[in-house]
Amino acid sequence: MQTFTNVQLLQNTLDDWRAQGQSIAFVPTMGGLHAGHLSLVALAKQKADKVIVSVFVNPTQFGKDEDFDQYPNTLEQDTLQLEQHQVDGLFTPSAQQIYPQGLGSYIKVGAIGDVLCGISRPGHFQGVAQVVYNLLEIVKPDMAIFGQKDYQQLLVIKQMAAQYFPAVEVLSQPTVREKDGLAMSTRNQYLSIKERQIAPHLYQALLQAKQDYLNNASVEVLTANAEKILEKGFKVDYLEVLDANTLMQITDNTSEIAILFSVFLGSTRLIDNIIFNKG
Ligand code: PAF
Repeated sequence: MQTFTNVQLLQNTLDDWRAQGQSIAFVPTMGGLHAGHLSLVALAKQKADKVIVSVFVNPTQFGKDEDFDQYPNTLEQDTLQLEQHQVDGLFTPSAQQIYPQGLGSYIKVGAIGDVLCGISRPGHFQGVAQVVYNLLEIVKPDMAIFGQKDYQQLLVIKQMAAQYFPAVEVLSQPTVREKDGLAMSTRNQYLSIKERQIAPHLYQALLQAKQDYLNNASVEVLTANAEKILEKGFKVDYLEVLDANTLMQITDNTSEIAILFSVFLGSTRLIDNIIFNKG
């Protein structure tokens, strides 16, 4: 695996690969890699001849009271894991390489970024859309791959890519879970032993909500049942049942449902979701 810190050197190699007719899949990450990220790498390897992974903790997607300064830096282990998974290139740019003109952002996110985490984390999706735009502009891959755990982020990126990078196919992989159901996340490292024991109830609450929905329970009943499961230790940020394509209220045209929950466990914010056919 080649490691690149410099945009020009990365682009020279990407150009060589393209000249040889090789397709390129790109997996952007912020490091702290776990099995969820590795499932994105596995899909990338299936779909393309060459795989590039970036590790860049993007300052512009963190709010001022959020965990940018504590965000896990595990570059050594990340590098080993990517080597073991036969990734071709690791891109670890500096902020200067990604934001040569400064940290401003100008990519418009639109209504899909205004709900859910867009309310709890103002400016977050603006930062995500901008950094992914800048990364795609540098890498110009044939496809880019993201996890469904950050479902709203996935929709924001799909919309941004459709507008600015129509030639890039945006692919996704289902959430990877621990044995007890907890969605894998770099931020799970923040949980205390006690919080880690409670954390799987978030997925239990989602499963209950899906069951309630399929049993035609009202949103009030569904929400009350989820809150009951979450009342031991969680502080609810949002519990929503929405159209999975628009993140708006469900209508007769809705084909897929998204149940999306965001909670705090101590000071750690956890998000998770379930997506399923309306039936
Ligand atoms: O999901 C992430 O790890 C980040 O939000 C991303 C997409 C790499 C942008 O910084």
